[in-house]
Amino acid sequence: RRPLRVALLGCGAVGSGVLDHLAARPDLFALNPVLVRHPEKRSGDARARFTREAGEALAKRPDIVIEAMGGVDQPASLLLEALAGGAHVVTANKAAMAARYEGLHDAARRAGRQLRYAASVGGGVVILEALERLKPHGVAAVEGVMNGTGNFILSRLRAGAAFDDAVAEAQALGFAEADPSADVDGHDAADKLSLLIREAFGQDVPPAAIPKDSLRKATPERLAGAASQGEVFKQIGRCALLPDGRVEASVQVKSVPLDHPLAGAVNEENRFVLTLNDGSVHALYGKGAGRWPTAASVFADVMDITRACACDASGRAALAASA
Ligand code: NAP
Ligand code: HSE
Repeated sequence: RRPLRVALLGCGAVGSGVLDHLAARPDLFALNPVLVRHPEKRSGDARARFTREAGEALAKRPDIVIEAMGGVDQPASLLLEALAGGAHVVTANKAAMAARYEGLHDAARRAGRQLRYAASVGGGVVILEALERLKPHGVAAVEGVMNGTGNFILSRLRAGAAFDDAVAEAQALGFAEADPSADVDGHDAADKLSLLIREAFGQDVPPAAIPKDSLRKATPERLAGAASQGEVFKQIGRCALLPDGRVEASVQVKSVPLDHPLAGAVNEENRFVLTLNDGSVHALYGKGAGRWPTAASVFADVMDITRACACDASGRAALAASA
């Protein structure tokens, strides 16, 4: 069986980890030139060729297009083009998924192709997969620490760091969005919450409609006050189904007691608590940001598609043989 042709759009914190996984399996994947803004800085990277031309990155009708660029309009239009051209799509981009959810899903349905985005919520935590499995039992609420940078900053502030130093550290570690105000002001958590609401309740609550607190609410005075009462500040996203069928959602920065299920999340960790209609509670913890956990999640989506393509090809071969 021929290797699948793969286009990789973006090779930063996440894309570079994905490239490592792809380059390790030349038996499975043939790589197009990788799309970046500055290919001239990549002369020492032997894993792939690099290009700034989207047309070159998407040439030769790729089987799978992986997007890890960030932004909304440009990645969304490249992913629509990829689906229309017959590619399966994997993305880590929650901003584009939240903003173009219906358009991207419609395009995937029309093309009969897969659209997968496990890494876009929770990084390495399998929250979207868990929701897919638990949803038939009726989801009542989802609550979580869902922005690794925000939790990292709060952890560093608690240890006495200055706000801007904590942000710079999160950027250097590859956790932060290209514009870290998306993390600091709750926009990234709202994008993720909007996707969780789609998956849990099938409703459209755009990120702009979700009220959000800024992390700057966690001043040194408030942090000290919380600590003196045995509490800790967290950025918590929450959505719940109301009795009238509407969904309430918020991203709050608030102090919670140390025995709260989300209180123990440290650094870039994400934590989620799903409550089902029967009252049962399901908790998931893990690395919510960073190159390796996120790349592993993207690559898991790629491998699921690869296995499905292999089944499809052997199914078609079996049909042809029996005809
Ligand atoms: P990043 O480090 O800033 O990397 C972005 C990559 O895309 C870079 O290689 C950049 O090229 C390229 N790029 C961006 N805009 C481009 C354009 N207009 N044309 C061509 N290339 C372009 O970002 P990241 O942290 O890997 O995040 C990528 C996506 O994954 C985002 O949607 C983010 O929300 C999501 N995500 C990130 C994490 C994480 O922990 N970092 C976790 C989960 C999901 P250059 O290298 O030449 O600048
Ligand atoms: N900036 C995001 C975060 C990346 O810190 O959670 C993971 O989605």
